[in-house]
Amino acid sequence: MKSLNKILVTGGAGYIGSITTQELISAGYDVVVFDNLHQGHAEAVPPQATFVRGDLADKAAVKALFDDHPDIDGIMHFASYTLVGESMEKPLLYLRDNLVNAANLLEEATARGVRRFILSSTANLFDLPPDRQFDAIDERFPIIPGSPYGEGKFFIERMLHWFNRIYGLKYACLRYFNACGALPDRGEDHNPETHLIPLVLQVALGQRPHITIFGDDYPTRDGTCLRDYIHVIDLAHAHILVMEALDRLVTRQYNLGNGKGYTVKEVIEAARRVTGHPIPAIVGPRRPGDPAVLVASSETIRRELGWEPKYASLEAIIQSAWEWHRTHPRGYASLGK
Ligand code: UFG
Repeated sequence: MKSLNKILVTGGAGYIGSITTQELISAGYDVVVFDNLHQGHAEAVPPQATFVRGDLADKAAVKALFDDHPDIDGIMHFASYTLVGESMEKPLLYLRDNLVNAANLLEEATARGVRRFILSSTANLFDLPPDRQFDAIDERFPIIPGSPYGEGKFFIERMLHWFNRIYGLKYACLRYFNACGALPDRGEDHNPETHLIPLVLQVALGQRPHITIFGDDYPTRDGTCLRDYIHVIDLAHAHILVMEALDRLVTRQYNLGNGKGYTVKEVIEAARRVTGHPIPAIVGPRRPGDPAVLVASSETIRRELGWEPKYASLEAIIQSAWEWHRTHPRGYASLGK
């Protein structure tokens, strides 16, 4: 197979995509970012990357992308609708649009002879049965998507399976648990923001009066939901590691987390220590669709590829996010362009 020089990153103006783009550039790759900027920010795309604004729903735009860049060797596919909650209200964005966009990309990529593909997948594939609630989730766990978002990602995983069988596509699906943290110049900037850590830090910045804890009657050590928080830079490194190993991989799915769970209350407590702000919290009702516990077992990628998260401590993760939010209180709009 051709050597690996030029990578297409769809969704490279988004949170995880832009940080992975930065890491790819640091590792010496040429990167083309394709993003429609519905959720991403042009300012997040590293200046060394070639930025193409376009939509995967637009087949002509996808064709033009490959016409202009016939030398793409691999694809990292981040572009997606990504909100679990929204997927319960607008399922077709996830069960149709995410799928069609991936199909448009795969159709063109395959026709052009691109043979390497990494999918941004999710822990939302797993919704644990009651008798296994406290197990760390490895790749052999039953797939029971928690929402149309997770189901849509699973559809794409299955599409990749058939592209492998039929066209010999080398692929891997990286199932992230709770991505969080930031680099000094790139971090989370969603509108609306729904994720716990940025919301908590917005309280510390005085932008919100309090954080609402979604339920404190779960079967966990303090009654609040337990999650596995993994730093975005550790996810970025996993992408590069897997892309570089794709030609020899036998495993196609990797669960990515720290393997340690923290409750919502523990996250708020850690943010209080990091920021020195009291961060008022009130308890509200449960959020529909939230499993009590989601903790990854990432033993497979550790064993096969030697992946080791550098940010194992929750406080260090929150500290990195705090630096970003403190210095960019309005996200990328703080850059004043
Ligand atoms: N939470 C609150 N209050 C808030 C926001 C969140 O209590 O204001 C709680 C949630 O109920 C949950 C935890 O904080 O228990 C984490 O919530 P996030 O919204 O930050 O993240 P999720 O676990 O819901 O979802 C994340 C990603 C999804 C991915 C999923 C996989 O956003 O894309 O992890 O587990 F599918």
